[in-house]
Amino acid sequence: MSVLLDVRGVAKSFKLKGHWYHKRKFNALAPISFTVAAKKTLAIVGETGSGKSTLAKILVGAEAPTTGEIYLNGQLLQSKQFKQRCQHVRMIFQDSGTTLNPSLTIQQLLDEPLTLNTDLDEKQRRQLIRNTLQKVGLLGDHMNFYPHMFSGGQKQRISLARAIILEPQVIILDEALAALDPSLRSQMINLLLDLQQQMGLAYILISHNLGIVRHFSDNVMVMSHGEVVESGKTMEVMRNPQHKVTQRLMMSQNFQVK
Ligand SMILES: Nc1ncnc2c1ncn2[C@@H]1O[C@H](COP(=O)(O)OP(=O)(O)OP(=O)(O)O)[C@@H](O)[C@H]1O
Ligand SMILES: [Mg+2]
Repeated sequence: MSVLLDVRGVAKSFKLKGHWYHKRKFNALAPISFTVAAKKTLAIVGETGSGKSTLAKILVGAEAPTTGEIYLNGQLLQSKQFKQRCQHVRMIFQDSGTTLNPSLTIQQLLDEPLTLNTDLDEKQRRQLIRNTLQKVGLLGDHMNFYPHMFSGGQKQRISLARAIILEPQVIILDEALAALDPSLRSQMINLLLDLQQQMGLAYILISHNLGIVRHFSDNVMVMSHGEVVESGKTMEVMRNPQHKVTQRLMMSQNFQVK
């Protein structure tokens, strides 16, 4: 199994505001290491404030790590290569559907990453936008619509279209499915799984919902206070949770896997 994303000793500490003589640091992330292969999903679960979103922001390049390195396909990602990283590692947030700029049409929204990152001409961009909308189960003609003309589930698909239009290799879903009702959520999971196979994507799924984690992920990493306390194949960890944080998480959701 070939490694796509290789995270080595990534750590993050934040400087907290205070008087110069008692300036403090907060270690949000201890050095952590893991790998993700193409077409696989790594779930990250853990208590609130355990550093999951901080890690996600480092992976997309929105925050710089204090220490550590990230390799994509064996190549070191540096913060200088921000544009390149944006192309390869994309993130979808819980509320990304609702944060679509209401004054832009879907075509304009999807055109933005293309004009920034590619040399495609207008006709090629229109065609790509049309194809991408179809890939996420929308219609090509939807490109002339504004965000308010879509339902919540459709808006989430537009965010997904925006995330995949540059053909990334890794997509990070930070609670991206949390706001959807169960039937929309399972449609979205099926769509994500299809796209994973078609495009060879790796997903990092940050979720509080162990049902989604079980259904969707191959491997899981459990975090607490900025550290990875347990990791392994999702089914094995869920069948036989070793760490008290994992056990507590499963108990709090009445979650059992036999
Ligand atoms: N810019 C910042 N400055 C200082 N502290 C920060 C900053 N960003 C995050 N933190 C702290 O880092 C810790 C980890 O936050 P993070 O958002 O990564 O948690 P999380 O695991 O995503 O939690 P949740 O499940 O609630 O989304 C928290 O204690 C948070 O207060
Ligand atoms: Mg978070």
